[in-house]
Amino acid sequence: MKSFDIRTKIYFGENSLDRLANIPYNRAFIITDPFVVKSGMLQMITMRLQDGYTEYEVFSDVVPDPPLEKIELGVKALLNYNPDCVIAVGGGSAIDSAKSIREFASRASDKIPALIAIPTTSGTGSEVTSFAVVTDPSKDIKYPLVSDSMLPTEAILDAALVKSVPAAVTADTGMDVLTHAIEAYVSINNNEFSAALAEKAIEICGTFLLRSYLDNNDTHARQKMHIASCLAGLAFNSASLGLNHGMAHALGGKFHIPHGRANAMLLPFIIEYNSGITIHSKSQKEYPPCVRKYVNVAKLLGCSNFNEITTVRALISWVQFMNKEMNIPLTVSQCGIDRTEYFNAIDSMADKAISDSCTATNPKVPTKLEVISVFEHLYG
Ligand SMILES: [Fe+2]
Repeated sequence: MKSFDIRTKIYFGENSLDRLANIPYNRAFIITDPFVVKSGMLQMITMRLQDGYTEYEVFSDVVPDPPLEKIELGVKALLNYNPDCVIAVGGGSAIDSAKSIREFASRASDKIPALIAIPTTSGTGSEVTSFAVVTDPSKDIKYPLVSDSMLPTEAILDAALVKSVPAAVTADTGMDVLTHAIEAYVSINNNEFSAALAEKAIEICGTFLLRSYLDNNDTHARQKMHIASCLAGLAFNSASLGLNHGMAHALGGKFHIPHGRANAMLLPFIIEYNSGITIHSKSQKEYPPCVRKYVNVAKLLGCSNFNEITTVRALISWVQFMNKEMNIPLTVSQCGIDRTEYFNAIDSMADKAISDSCTATNPKVPTKLEVISVFEHLYG
């Protein structure tokens, strides 16, 4: 038996931030990062809270790849303020921090505040998922936390907040959206509902990702990518992800490559690995079932070819083309990482990738040697 639900109420479109003037809460604890404060985005939130007579306190100590020590600080501050609502404002790190802080605080209190997630990048989909990633810097490891109790109560998708996102961030986060959608689509936990959401997210990425990268005044494209990010989040919240994310967590944890960029670099290699397409081809009927799904992905992106094998090849080329066009490195060596240091880390990264919870739903069960081989090829 399977089930599917969307528990987060989603407000989207023009002026959706106005929802904040009408929330049924009195004390809001805002969790955000210093950039949101400096850029004036925080003020767009607080002025609406004031309009609705909601008191607030701001915790702006969020850093990228949220470490456990910052989560602990946030838990103390939240318990001290005793809010009836937590508002997360920022990229994946801010929303993941807010989810973790609220989750840990709820274990020390009988009161669980509501959670409103307001993304300021179009990437993680964290505003509608029960996942959060926290980092233990002492072990160079990222831990995905998964619990339905971390699902936000509300999400607000207002594209006014993504207008000034720099091009490099648009590229990295946009490729993260595409990776979420494709991994959810081929996951062993996929279902008709997650597939429908993933297909729409893939279609939007195909039409609007490059546009939003090339022109940050293209507000229509940015609005579409903001929605695609949420759709892909809903898809993987139901179907989960795969080896791409398992390896990206290990790589990002060790070498601090931005999450979306690590996924973008890995994506062509993972499609090739999962589909089992090599130069020494088997007959078409021996290809695994995920090949047909990759063919559907290629069709949605407008790059189908004359048979299944060449279509999956065309999909891989399309992803590489997107990476090149958006100045995303194709290999680890292009990131300037030392070869010896990288190869020395491969064995431990492979262990972490295999034990990562995302890897469990990959369409092909990877062996450690196979993961090592992909990491080796990824160096370039
Ligand atoms: Fe991701």
